[in-house]
Amino acid sequence: MSLLTTSGLVKKFGGLTAVNDVNLSIEENETLGIIGPNGSGKTTLFNLLTGFFLPTSGKVSFQGRYITRLSPEKRVAMGMVRTFQLVSVFNSLKVWENLVPCTTWSNKSHYTFWKLLTSSAQNTWDSSREALKLVGLENYANALTAELSYGDKRLLEIALSLSLKPKLLLLDEPFSGLSDVEILKVLKLLKTLKGKITIAIIEHKISAIVDFVDRLSVMNEGRLICEGNPSEVLRDPLVNECYWGKEEMLKEEGQSDASLV
Ligand SMILES: Nc1ncnc2c1ncn2[C@@H]1O[C@H](COP(=O)(O)OP(=O)(O)O)[C@@H](O)[C@H]1O
Ligand SMILES: [Mg+2]
Repeated sequence: MSLLTTSGLVKKFGGLTAVNDVNLSIEENETLGIIGPNGSGKTTLFNLLTGFFLPTSGKVSFQGRYITRLSPEKRVAMGMVRTFQLVSVFNSLKVWENLVPCTTWSNKSHYTFWKLLTSSAQNTWDSSREALKLVGLENYANALTAELSYGDKRLLEIALSLSLKPKLLLLDEPFSGLSDVEILKVLKLLKTLKGKITIAIIEHKISAIVDFVDRLSVMNEGRLICEGNPSEVLRDPLVNECYWGKEEMLKEEGQSDASLV
C-alpha cells in the first residue's frame, strides 16, 4: 500500500485549472522528485496534499485513510510535514525559540499550550538544541533568526519540520534562492534522511535533484505528464518538449533560464 495517493485531484481558480486530474502515489520511504515548469501546479498540488487548499474535486488518502478535507494540523499530527517555497521561519525570535512549539508538540501531548507553559525550560532548550545539532546550527542557537543567511534559515526550517517527526516530508523548492555551497549543505542533510523517511521534493532545476531522487514525476499545465526512473524521464520526448519548447519561446522573449539541466 502506498503511503499517500491522490485520485482525480483537481483544483480550479476561477477559469484556471491549476491541478488537473492528478493521480499520484508516494511509496513508503521513497524519495520522489516533482518537477515542472513555473506555474505547472507543483505548489498547488502540495497545498492540496497538506490541506492548505481544498480540492475542487478528487481525493487524497494517507496511510490508507481518506484525508481530503482534514485540517492541516491534523495532517501534521498524522506525520505529514512540509516546508515552503519562500522559507518560513520566525525572524524576530532567537534561532532556538523557533523550535519550541514543535519539540513540545511532538512529545505527543494533546494539551499543546498547557505543555508549552508547564514543560521545564531546560527540557525545551535541550530538545531545541538537539534539533539544531542535527542540521549543524547549534552554534547559532542564541542568534536572532533574522541574522541567519538564507541557506541557514532553510536548514532551520528543515530542523523545525524534522522536530515534528514526519513520516512524509514535503519540500517545496528547498534550494531556491540558495548559493551552490548552501545547496550542497542542504542536500547533504537531505541525503542523511533518504530511505529513513518518505520525501517528496519539488524542484525547478532538475540537475539539482536527479542523483538524489528514486523517482521523478513531471507536471505540466496542471497535469502529471510523465513518471518513472529519473534518467528515463529526462529522455522522454514529451518532458523535453514541455521544458525546451518553453525554453525556445522564452529565449525569443529574452527570459531564458535553462532549467532542465
Ligand atoms: N492562491 C491562488 N489563487 C489563484 N491562482 C493561484 C493560486 N495559487 C496558484 N495559482 C495559479 O495556479 C497555477 C499554478 O501555480 P503553482 O502551483 O504555484 O505553480 P508552480 O509551483 O508549479 O510554479 C498558476 O497559474 C498560478 O497563478
Ligand atoms: Mg511553486
